[in-house]
Amino acid sequence: MVRQKVVSTYQEKYGQKPMLVFSPGRLNIIGEHTDYNDGFVFPAAIDKGIYAAFGFSKEGQCTAEAIDMNESFTFSLESIKPLEKAGWHNYILGVIHGIQEKGKMIAPFNLVFGGDIPEGAGLSSSAALENAIVFGLNELFGLKLSKEEMIFISQNAEHEFVGVKCGIMDQYASMFGQKNTALLLDCRDISSRPFHIDFDAYQILLINTNVKHSLSDSAYNKRREVCEKVSKLLKVNALRDADSIKLEAISNQINSEEFQMALYVIQENERVQKAGQAMAANDIHGLGKLIYASHHGLQNQYKVSCEELNFLVDLAKACPNIAGSRMMGGGFGGCTINIIKKEAVASYSKSVSEAYLQQFGKSCSIYDIALSDGTHLLTDN
Ligand code: GLA
Repeated sequence: MVRQKVVSTYQEKYGQKPMLVFSPGRLNIIGEHTDYNDGFVFPAAIDKGIYAAFGFSKEGQCTAEAIDMNESFTFSLESIKPLEKAGWHNYILGVIHGIQEKGKMIAPFNLVFGGDIPEGAGLSSSAALENAIVFGLNELFGLKLSKEEMIFISQNAEHEFVGVKCGIMDQYASMFGQKNTALLLDCRDISSRPFHIDFDAYQILLINTNVKHSLSDSAYNKRREVCEKVSKLLKVNALRDADSIKLEAISNQINSEEFQMALYVIQENERVQKAGQAMAANDIHGLGKLIYASHHGLQNQYKVSCEELNFLVDLAKACPNIAGSRMMGGGFGGCTINIIKKEAVASYSKSVSEAYLQQFGKSCSIYDIALSDGTHLLTDN
């Protein structure tokens, strides 16, 4: 198990028991590309994530080791800057920079981390890592940062050191997640309503296309720019404040692609709120329809899907045991989320795996996940 490997690697290297943090990835039931429009999302933390072991360093500098990549690097805490052509390094450096910018003092430390979230699967391994680092350093050095301060440090690291102008959904879900619970989050005032997730005869199943998406792809930032442009024309703070009538009124000032993207965001925000109502009423089929509609918008209006994701959603639609299915996360690859009858999981997993292999000549991966608590210390290692 990753957890044991992280702890034993730390102990072998530094001869001491580390402080251990678990920081989860997330899924999202509905509400995609709405978070950076001050809108609504419906994520949950999952039982896959990052395990990070921390301790003090006596060497005057920090060492960070990523066991999954078999890479390590040593750095000083003075004048932290993003590295060029770096991968995981910049998430760590960005978080440290954010902590220092808040005027908080940290001293040299050692870090060993590893995870069981496949990278690029749209399950937010990056937010899990950022939160693991900020949470771990907050504990190790008694910085007294609130969870809310920590998620904004994480988000800022991604903006400034990684170059993805992400919203707050991933960092929020990873930090504030609760066992067996999804959070209907208002990304404007960062308040959330917890929903206990029990779909009776149904459950959540994630299917990974194994197409690795890369959000630093300018595609993500470009869409955010379109949303900001349309908001400005509408004279509102964010698309959260827009509706389709107002959008229609400025349609002559934008092209049809931009119109459809903004319309998607407006409609997706409405869907998330309706999903909350469906969930409260235990209406699994109502929820499922909203989830299918979300995919339709992501594919045709927001244009962030891909052939493999569409294939999986089309297969789901043809299966009467699936109430709803859609691509999840930023897009261009990663997973679909499916609300499926428990009794159908085994047979559907088999048939979808075969069909996917036949269609694309490569395998998909299937994850039966549980909803977990947010970033926390693990004490019994
Ligand atoms: C990525 C970003 C999030 C969010 C989703 C799309 O996961 O990190 O902030 O925008 O894409 O919903």
